[in-house]
Amino acid sequence: MLKPKSSNIPKPTRYQNAAIDYYMGLTNSSYLHYGYWEPLPIAGEELTLTRLRAAQEAYTAKLLSFIPETVKTVLDVGCGIGGNAAYLDVRGFTVEGLAPDALQQQRFIKNTNSQVPFYLMRFEDFHSSNSYDLILLSESSQYIAINDLAEGAARFLSSNGYLLLADMMRSNAEYQKGIFSNCHVASELQAALIKAGFKLIKTEDISTQVAPTIDLCVEKFRTFGLTTIKYIADLVAIAFPPLHALGRWVFKRWLEKPIAEGLAARTIFESHLCYSIQLWQLSIHEVNLR
Ligand SMILES: C[S@@+](CC[C@H](N)C(=O)[O-])C[C@H]1O[C@@H](n2cnc3c(N)ncnc32)[C@H](O)[C@@H]1O
Repeated sequence: MLKPKSSNIPKPTRYQNAAIDYYMGLTNSSYLHYGYWEPLPIAGEELTLTRLRAAQEAYTAKLLSFIPETVKTVLDVGCGIGGNAAYLDVRGFTVEGLAPDALQQQRFIKNTNSQVPFYLMRFEDFHSSNSYDLILLSESSQYIAINDLAEGAARFLSSNGYLLLADMMRSNAEYQKGIFSNCHVASELQAALIKAGFKLIKTEDISTQVAPTIDLCVEKFRTFGLTTIKYIADLVAIAFPPLHALGRWVFKRWLEKPIAEGLAARTIFESHLCYSIQLWQLSIHEVNLR
């Protein structure tokens, strides 16, 4: 399936997609999530990509620790480029992955050694006669409308099946514009899942262990991204002064504000968001009542 036309995608999601591509290029890892920094970096310690990749392994191990022993089959919704699926596959789970991105599909197939089926589509468009013991939403819940997520998960789970959801969420519902505004409001997500027949089994707030990744991305952007942009601007100013004037206008008009917001990402995260891992279980009793 082709990627959805960018004009159909809300602006905050497009910012997030651009961030995913940037992240993929930056990390050169098989994960697209923030990772779990344990132990936390000490003050002044340099945040390296090597440490980020270790944090990403630790995050996936953390997800695994949430999976009940009875689980055998997993649908990895918003599976990215296959890191989590490969991790579960080699540990004996029967995994299938799903994401609406052809570039991710290629990398997913490579990273899972073609051992894990991949569906190139949005969760909202997924149809299957299979039911799964667990649906995994690792940093993908924010891309799917709350009701589609809750009702879709209930539809594809076996009775008493589990939903394992790990993502950034808005702790402040008033935060409605900006780079993280497509994250769900935590209380609204919770209400929709309960309404769809889920009960919360276990939850953990890992905001503190995720935050160093935001610092790392901001730092890399500041040192490499902005420095490179400035260098190119300097070259253009020497070689084509009128083009430089135009570029300056474009920068002021469209780029200055989002860049300033990106550089303030850590503060925005701490003020309005949290990051939590949640294990939910579908309750047969409540589903039958619907
Ligand atoms: C931040 S990445 C996380 C990838 C992976 N789960 C991980 O933990 O590395 C978000 C993923 O959600 C996918 N996604 C976006 N919109 C989606 C939708 N409507 N249905 C399913 N997946 C979606 C993206 O293509 C991407 O694979």
